[in-house]
Amino acid sequence: MHAMTEALAFDMYGTLVDPIGITTALQEVLPEDADRLAVLWRSTQLEYTFRLTAMGVYEDFERVTRKALDHALAVVGRDLGQAAKDMLMGRYNDLERFIDVAPGLDRLQQAGHPMVVFSNGSPRMLEPLMAATGLDRWFDGYLSVDPVQAFKPSPRTYRYVAEQLNRPIGHIRLISSNPFDISGARTAGMSAAWVNRSGGPFDTLGDPPEVIVRSLTELADALAHPA
Ligand code: LAC
Repeated sequence: MHAMTEALAFDMYGTLVDPIGITTALQEVLPEDADRLAVLWRSTQLEYTFRLTAMGVYEDFERVTRKALDHALAVVGRDLGQAAKDMLMGRYNDLERFIDVAPGLDRLQQAGHPMVVFSNGSPRMLEPLMAATGLDRWFDGYLSVDPVQAFKPSPRTYRYVAEQLNRPIGHIRLISSNPFDISGARTAGMSAAWVNRSGGPFDTLGDPPEVIVRSLTELADALAHPA
């Protein structure tokens, strides 16, 4: 039925849910450092995924996220006990959806797009996150990079999505707020749409994609009426 409708693969962290929303949980344990820690935690987490993949080594995203938290704490000169770190990791699996996600996904689903989540997240993180956020109801499940044993933007991860969806890679569009993810997908031959909620610049390593939107509701408009 959906043979002609483009399949959409959605990035999770930063695109559907806000990883900086972990600030609220950080405020409960380290209020004065919470804002800085949230940003450092996320940037370290991503840097670790890039470095591991460049080295040809894999550790799952949960482990990477824990190690990134330890580094962020060390940078600000703070420490937390195991219980507080476990609490923070638990809250990572209950991050908030961006407000445009529900209305945008409703419309994209009505338009008949097959939709999956495609994320660096490990199944142990994505499973509870999809349930806690209610994202389950819009998606035909999730694809974790975990079976590939490499992180985005390795081309192997995007090819894996095409294999799993049983479609040519050029018939799938990655939806992501992360420029490195957009460039990675396009380098592997996938279409892409950049969700630029902040209105900031794209990076200067890759070219911006043909579809750039401020929200998922704008994405529904853009895909319904291609330029
Ligand atoms: C993800 C990270 C890249 O969800 O945000 O894959």
